[in-house]
Amino acid sequence: MAAAARWFQTNFRGDVFYAVKANPSPWVIETLVANGVTSFDVASIPEIELIAQHAPGSRMAFMHPVKSRAAISAAYFDHGVRTFALDTHEELAKIVEATSEAKDLNLIVRLAVAAEGAAYSLSGKFGVDAHEAPALLLAARRATQDLMGVSFHVGSQCMRPTAYQAAMTQASRALVRAGVFADVVDVGGGFPSVYPGMVPPALADYVDSIDRGFAEMMVHETTELWCEPGRALVAEGSSIITKVELRKGEALYLNDGSYGSLFDAAHAKWPFPVKLLRTEGGEAREVEGNLKPFKFWGPTCDSLDHMPGPFWLPEDVREGDYIEIGMLGAYGVAMNTRFNGFGDAEIAETRDAPMASMFGLARRSIPLPKQENQNVVKLSRARSKKRRRK
Ligand SMILES: Cc1ncc(COP(=O)(O)O)c(C=O)c1O
Repeated sequence: MAAAARWFQTNFRGDVFYAVKANPSPWVIETLVANGVTSFDVASIPEIELIAQHAPGSRMAFMHPVKSRAAISAAYFDHGVRTFALDTHEELAKIVEATSEAKDLNLIVRLAVAAEGAAYSLSGKFGVDAHEAPALLLAARRATQDLMGVSFHVGSQCMRPTAYQAAMTQASRALVRAGVFADVVDVGGGFPSVYPGMVPPALADYVDSIDRGFAEMMVHETTELWCEPGRALVAEGSSIITKVELRKGEALYLNDGSYGSLFDAAHAKWPFPVKLLRTEGGEAREVEGNLKPFKFWGPTCDSLDHMPGPFWLPEDVREGDYIEIGMLGAYGVAMNTRFNGFGDAEIAETRDAPMASMFGLARRSIPLPKQENQNVVKLSRARSKKRRRK
């Protein structure tokens, strides 16, 4: 996570706003701040309060395109938030009214763009269409004496770097039609991480595409470039260690699942890397052997609590073993519910490399250092365990 934060600081030619929704853990916020990320994309008052508490004085942008009037007022008057996203004239009116017609707003118009190449499309719900965008851009321009900008989201886990340049071309066209300059171009999130079977191009290709897109846009000399990465900043930062409660053929019943940290593994059938751990004589070790495909069931009584995988594990996996599931720093802990009374976890800080990395950190096989062995042993009393790395 520290390496990811530094990579974005060094390579992205603009301001990096961390999308808090990806992982709102206080230690994540603090690690990012310690490594230079001091701007945050927030989507709710609780996220704003979290940042106010753990990163006081940092810059926040309220990038949810639909907000309650109460949330807009509280953000503006109680927390000093000045940047608000919108994708309709109605939301623009709400923002203006709920801030008592403030003149120091930064208004960011979210555009709908194609989500080609993204594993998760985020188009459809938010974003103003191309033909309606010019009028909204003009209205936003007139509503503030401060910054007016454009934003978009190419979709999460975007596998195609050129998607950014294409979206910027679309944004530029809307600006030209409206006859206004943007003070901010916010290219959103979507920067990928690496998962089994989903190895994206290098992140450098993404910033190149953005640089090319920016160079061709209708902007002025002082126009700011922003991005809002979530996944790419934090995915590598955590694994979970979950316990096998029962083996039924090739089905493993675990103490974590789709209502816990494995939402994406269930609902997006996301392939996460796995590793088998076994404790013997109080010592934990990684188990290797002939690999077989397994599917997982979570601990709740819901049959949707199913992670089809396949997850490739040594064929002799058995009750009482632990499975480390890697790359769960983004949209893992953030999605945890307490359904059926499950969801407890201990958190331990570790210093080993992530299972895979966009930042050149990963090792193929990661031996467990002594301290981690102790952590894993403690697990036998715990329901599940989340590991984190700085
Ligand atoms: C407005 C906004 N910005 C940024 C992000 C982060 O996206 P990602 O995790 O794909 O980088 C999201 C994710 O939903 C979002 O809605």
